[in-house]
Amino acid sequence: MWKPPERIRHRLPEAQWPTLDDIQSALWFSPIRYRALDLVERTWVPAMVPWRATEQGFVTQDVIDWYRRFAEGKPGALVVEATGIRDVPSGPLLRIGHDRFLPGLRDLVSAVREASEGRTRLFIQLIDFLTIRRRPEPEKYFGRYLRITDTHRRGTGQDADEDVREALLALHAADDREALERILSPRELESLNQGFRERVTDLDQPHIRDLPQALPPLFADAAERAQRAGFDGVELHYAHAYTMASFLSALNDRDDGYGGPREHRIRLPLEVYGRVRERVGGDFVVGCRFLTEDCLDGGSTLEDSRYFGRRFAEAGMDFLSLSRGGKFEDATQPKVGRAAYPYTGPSGYECMPVVISDEQGPFGRNVEPSRSIREEIRAAGLATPVVVSGGIATFEQAEDILRSGGADVVASARQTLADPDWFLKVRKGLGGHVRRCIFTNYCEGLDQMHKQVTCQLWDREDLDEPGVTLANENRRRLIAPKWQVDEG
Ligand SMILES: Cc1cc2nc3c(=O)[nH]c(=O)nc-3n(C[C@H](O)[C@H](O)[C@H](O)COP(=O)(O)O)c2cc1C
Ligand code: SF4
Repeated sequence: MWKPPERIRHRLPEAQWPTLDDIQSALWFSPIRYRALDLVERTWVPAMVPWRATEQGFVTQDVIDWYRRFAEGKPGALVVEATGIRDVPSGPLLRIGHDRFLPGLRDLVSAVREASEGRTRLFIQLIDFLTIRRRPEPEKYFGRYLRITDTHRRGTGQDADEDVREALLALHAADDREALERILSPRELESLNQGFRERVTDLDQPHIRDLPQALPPLFADAAERAQRAGFDGVELHYAHAYTMASFLSALNDRDDGYGGPREHRIRLPLEVYGRVRERVGGDFVVGCRFLTEDCLDGGSTLEDSRYFGRRFAEAGMDFLSLSRGGKFEDATQPKVGRAAYPYTGPSGYECMPVVISDEQGPFGRNVEPSRSIREEIRAAGLATPVVVSGGIATFEQAEDILRSGGADVVASARQTLADPDWFLKVRKGLGGHVRRCIFTNYCEGLDQMHKQVTCQLWDREDLDEPGVTLANENRRRLIAPKWQVDEG
């Protein structure tokens, strides 16, 4: 993973855990209501993909155990991982693109209801993503994948396709980058060096051109399924490297009314929301997750996101959850045979920062942008709750953010993975028992390898305990150990 060149090692923020009296007046543990959103407290677990679904996208017992474990900490809200809305194979990622996925999703909902005793509101994140291929072996790329054009013929001085292919491969073998850069287009070079990746701007491709027609009904069908499965709501995934975030991005220069100026870039996200709302009605929670900043050269800025936030709020969304960065455009080069991963470059760092950082450090990097977006929404006379995340892992951080108007709800992903009981411990005045995330991203490294995600603080503990499920390679437990109240 990329790290800021300053490489300053930051210490975890001091934690003065609250007493039971402090908890009584804590904003973080106070309820919030807005339109369909009704949380008993403002603690929130954002989406985290654990790589536990079947290859066909079904809920497994491991998926259920993962969410049950989070629900035992009884957060105000829990968002189920990015779940694919199409009925197409996508490896072990959860899917909701057909009714056959409903029984498993219903079991997941029941498990969360039971474990949280009905306290936790359960949402599911709905995602669409485009095709991305692994970085090819150069022999295969030049030998088969590259479509030979006249530019290649001119550049190599060869006529027959086979000869062109051979000449290009020879240039690659000789590491003649200058020649390759002259002959291949930037897109072809990217396909060679990173692996082929579709973009929302590939208007020459009919299925990409037609996304504005295809996506609203797909999202609406998926949201209706979520409603039928018993979820309290959906989070439309408009963040990070995926289709909807790419429409919002300033890099989207589609010329069909869905790209270019920000008024056009937000058009499809609003149309998707409109279609979803029409389908599920006003009592079902519908919000979205989007970026405060793309954190890319030429990408969307905070100015764009203030505008997006206001428009989403005006459209009637029940919450807006804010992340940052996490894009493909600056991802590091994958090894041959692996696909690029959007959290490996500088924008990825902004999304999931670690303790080796710059002056600013990894804690709460998204808070000031979130405050700015919230101010824009409030200035428009709207009270839409803003959920912020990114390096927030103590009670004081959360409380300061809420008291100073940085957000209305505070979300913690990695801290909750490190200790799924931490909300419960803090709520009971036992914050000293919290297992604190050390923000080194061991978990994210597993995610990157598409391995079952666990936390280094507990995954080697008590492996022989009865009932412990182990990861595929048998060396890690999949779920955090139970918290013994009288321990330590
Ligand atoms: C293993 C892992 C998987 C993640 N999967 C998702 C996801 O499916 N959808 C999403 O919006 N964010 C995802 N994230 C990002 C988190 O929701 C969160 O924004 C990020 O980790 C920063 O918050 P934190 O500092 O509290 O961990 C994931 C993070 C991790 C560590
Ligand atoms: S693996 Fe590391 S970064 Fe991830 S949750 Fe655990 S302590 Fe935090």
